[in-house]
Amino acid sequence: MWTRTSLFAIAAVAGLAVSAPSAAQLSYVKAGAVLDVEAGQLLRDQVITIQDGRIVAVEAASSRKLPAEAKVIDLSKQTVLPGLIDCHTHLMSDSDDQGLRGLTVSLPEATLNGVKNAAKTLQAGFTTVRMVGAPGYGDVALRDAIAKREILGPRLLVSGPPIGITGGHCSDNNLLPHEYGSVGTGVADGPWEIRRRVRQNVKFGVDLIKTCSTGGVLSKGTKLDATQYTLEELTALVEEAHAHGRRVAVHAHGAAGIQNAILAGADSIEHASFVNDESIALAKERGTFFVMDVYVTEHILTEGKKNGVLEESLDKEREVGTIQRENFTRAHQAGVRMAFGTDSAVYPHGDNGRQFSRMVRFGMTPLEAIRTATTNAAELLGIKDRVGQLAAGFEADLVAVTGNPLEDVSLLENIEFVMKGGIVYKDP
Ligand code: ARG
Repeated sequence: MWTRTSLFAIAAVAGLAVSAPSAAQLSYVKAGAVLDVEAGQLLRDQVITIQDGRIVAVEAASSRKLPAEAKVIDLSKQTVLPGLIDCHTHLMSDSDDQGLRGLTVSLPEATLNGVKNAAKTLQAGFTTVRMVGAPGYGDVALRDAIAKREILGPRLLVSGPPIGITGGHCSDNNLLPHEYGSVGTGVADGPWEIRRRVRQNVKFGVDLIKTCSTGGVLSKGTKLDATQYTLEELTALVEEAHAHGRRVAVHAHGAAGIQNAILAGADSIEHASFVNDESIALAKERGTFFVMDVYVTEHILTEGKKNGVLEESLDKEREVGTIQRENFTRAHQAGVRMAFGTDSAVYPHGDNGRQFSRMVRFGMTPLEAIRTATTNAAELLGIKDRVGQLAAGFEADLVAVTGNPLEDVSLLENIEFVMKGGIVYKDP
């Protein structure tokens, strides 16, 4: 006999949803409470009306009489929130393939990893995610297959291969000796080569451009405080990307590279580890978002070695982890706009929600932390009129937990219900 759970498991493997209402059909979600993230309020006993994948209304249950034959999803014991958004993921990589092991993963394998990890991420309540760096435009294929409902996953915004300097943290790979002649796809030096790379990524269908303005933790031979790209190069990259309507995410740990990226007009600074007061002030002035991955350091330092992370990378992580968290507190207190991004792939996909409690530990209220993954993230991604809120006209992206996440944000580590675009993918 098929239980509901086994049917769901089959549906999930086949990439299907638990229930797919026909387009015109109205469905109703009865919610014990709805979190209005804009207003910062919990509204008790609500009914959310959904049609054609969109929210039609959010109303008090007392004032909404449901038709007798109505299709009703009962979440009257749960709190419903907007689907979560992670702005910094790498769905095509796995956390146990770090360092030299990464060299053994082929592009087809990486793409299949993406299929597996997209499903895990959606099941964890992340209904929209941004991928900031993937080989071979596998991310473009993944995004499109999910959009066509051929496979299961969050709504994706993707960057394609990151663009970076020769030997840099983005896109090049310094693991193989010279005689292998290995050069990363996104390598570009000088303004015109960079513009050409941006144009190529646009040609092959990316939603945004990812680059690096400093070295990184997990790349061989790069320094966290060393700048990658000059201000002239970064400015050319941002100008070209913006000319094509693409936003720019810049990986930056060191202070000089962070400052360069903000000056060049980056839309978000990823990591922002050694940010100083000058850059905090400039980011505030320019409205630049910081996407600070304050959970991942715990995983690198405890599991990294067995997952293949290089010794030199472990050393760099020891140097950066604590300071990044202190600077998260400072930047938040100063009022820099923050969006939620975790660097999933460096830790296991699906654990994304663990970052919320860390953001609270380092100075945010639970509501502020939730906003980084809803309204703020939607704004950074340029889709704030469509996702990030539970309100009429928005995509029906809903997640639910038992209890009050404004009291205990770690509840978001165990999402019980997931709906994306009006379709249920996880049911309690
Ligand atoms: N992908 C990043 C890098 O290699 C990971 C940094 C993780 N560490 C941290 N403290 N956020 O640089």
